[in-house]
Amino acid sequence: MDKLSKHPSRETDQHDEGWREQYPIDTVKEQNQNRRQFLKTVVAGSALLACGQVALVAAEARRAQVKQLSDKRMVLDVNLSDIADGESILFHYPDEHSPCLLIKISDSKVLSYSQKCTHLACPLIPKAEEGMLFCPCHKGAFDLETGNPLFGPPKRALPRVQLSVDDTGLITVYGMEQAL
Ligand code: FES
Repeated sequence: MDKLSKHPSRETDQHDEGWREQYPIDTVKEQNQNRRQFLKTVVAGSALLACGQVALVAAEARRAQVKQLSDKRMVLDVNLSDIADGESILFHYPDEHSPCLLIKISDSKVLSYSQKCTHLACPLIPKAEEGMLFCPCHKGAFDLETGNPLFGPPKRALPRVQLSVDDTGLITVYGMEQAL
């Protein structure tokens, strides 16, 4: 019987033994390697799951700390390139009774908040060079970077306007949130 016509199950014996002699396998070592590989996979999988859960918990915690006041989309009728660094503009969002400030720090950094002081709703004056938004009514102030109260009567942070700027300088406002 030639080799091709042999039944596969009967082709072991000598052929297999020759192969084993030529390429000896340490079975115990191989099993240990397999076990190690399995453990690595389990640990990596667990780490990924843990990361995912941490991200979910973080997102949930953030949701609990922030209230979304609006998700209306609106394109501003001013281009970012028309605003100088340190300059601010006034616009209204999400309605005509809600003045907001947009402060351009640089081409890559733009901040925006409600202009109403969280104490008694006086209009704030941006002071970019001093890193604050100042309220002249009772001498309160908010941090320009975070919107958190710095000094004076205000206790609550300013509602923050969420926006994006595209490559052409088009500014799109898409939300407003209030830290709780
Ligand atoms: S209204 Fe702004 S500090 Fe009072």
